[in-house]
Amino acid sequence: MGTKEQVLALLEQHRGACLSGAEIAGRLHLSRNAVWKAVNDLRKAGYQIEAATNRGYCLTDANDILSVQGILPLLCENARAFADSVIYEKESRSTNRTAKALALDGAAHGTTVLADSQSSGRGRYSRSFFSPPGGLYLSIILHPERLHFSQITAVTAFAAVAVCEAIEAVTGRAPAIKWVNDLFLGGKKVCGILTEAVTDFESGSHSWVVVGIGINVHAKQADFPPELRETATSLYPDTLPESGIRNRLAAEIINRLAGFDTPPDEKEIFAEYRKRLMMLGKQVTVIRGDETYCAVAEDIDETGRLMLRTPDGQRQILSSGEIRILT
Ligand code: BTN
Repeated sequence: MGTKEQVLALLEQHRGACLSGAEIAGRLHLSRNAVWKAVNDLRKAGYQIEAATNRGYCLTDANDILSVQGILPLLCENARAFADSVIYEKESRSTNRTAKALALDGAAHGTTVLADSQSSGRGRYSRSFFSPPGGLYLSIILHPERLHFSQITAVTAFAAVAVCEAIEAVTGRAPAIKWVNDLFLGGKKVCGILTEAVTDFESGSHSWVVVGIGINVHAKQADFPPELRETATSLYPDTLPESGIRNRLAAEIINRLAGFDTPPDEKEIFAEYRKRLMMLGKQVTVIRGDETYCAVAEDIDETGRLMLRTPDGQRQILSSGEIRILT
């Protein structure tokens, strides 16, 4: 860790409280001048650090800069084991891409890649995912022991519920899930999840799974490209950035997902997932390749498949695909 990062880590641990230059220097075995320089560099990077006479430096709450140092103090005891494997890229091509490369290289369970923006963010069906600065783009590597490849839908469902809970804990607003893995607030998409896995075909189990999560945090409605403006939203489209919101969200997500290392209780996962589904009992349009048709989304089964009733009374069961909710 460089000097700037060490000073930031200490200030983050004492966010809102003052630490004198001498104290910081003493704790980190640095000169007072090196501390002063690091504080100036952090201010240039956008951190609000107040300097009070005789009291020292204080990292105020008035910023929302994503950083590993801002996340680590917020990790719960279980997730702290992964503290060394949280990686930040200011601009990533795609955090899923980086995480997959790391997984192929043998990166451990819990390794997390975070970015402030992505130049080639990817969504399902190889679509691009709009990833401007100010969002939260996060990919976490999971090594779920003995997880059979048929259980991958459970990982996605678990992640969708975990992100809903994290958003609720931090913002007080409860997103709904649109099958399979989109999170909605106020009828618009606020988060997308892309789960990718490598399977060992001999054993039928997953070698690793990468769960990629993209949350629109500060984007204003006008920031979205025209084709997304009607359907996408962010957590704070109209208000000023909340302090440390993205670090808090990232920590809440890591805290929940890092525990996913044993075979999941699928029944429990889908029960939680079902509670948050937004389309049950509603008319939907089903899109499968070139085919589209209308149906009522009746329920999900115990493996997360969507159970539909078509207008002629036939039952359809969907394990993948996309639906649009008709309002
Ligand atoms: C979707 O809406 O179809 C899924 C979008 C998933 C986007 C996230 S952002 C972090 C991670 N990196 C990517 O390139 N994609 C996922």
